[in-house]
Amino acid sequence: MQQRTILVSLVAAALALSFGTASAANGNAADGKTKSAACAACHGADGNGIAPNYPALAGQYQDYLAQVLHEYKDGQRTNAIMNGMAAPLSDQDIKDLAAYFSNLPSKLSDLHGKIQGGN
Ligand code: HEC
Repeated sequence: MQQRTILVSLVAAALALSFGTASAANGNAADGKTKSAACAACHGADGNGIAPNYPALAGQYQDYLAQVLHEYKDGQRTNAIMNGMAAPLSDQDIKDLAAYFSNLPSKLSDLHGKIQGGN
């Protein structure tokens, strides 16, 4: 019985460790929150955008956010505002920001029922 308890704690510790490692590899959401101060002016404090022309980032796929930030930084995707915002970001900044925004509660939805004549 005692052995079983030890085994359970070992498994729990291993899981905690692997989650810790995974989040370090993919970016640190807490650091991302600090780095996101400049983003809130347009993307909102909750990451959902202050107006429809500012895309919601909250709950978006983490790898999508990282990819598109790299594309703005490299100039593969052009937008006057975002090319400027992404230019100074390091790879770690991008990982952290992507981790932060992807973990915020999402208001993303599809267009189901919103398109006239659609399903
Ligand atoms: C001055 C307003 C403004 C600020 C500040 C700003 N953004 Fe943006 N962001 C925009 C606009 C406008 C777009 C849409 C651009 C386009 O159509 O390509 C956008 C697009 C994005 C996208 C792509 C979203 C998608 O669905 O494709 C990401 C990711 C993003 N911003 C992240 C950030 C991050 C991270 C910061 C802070 C470092 C930031 N933005 C700061 C205005 C802003």
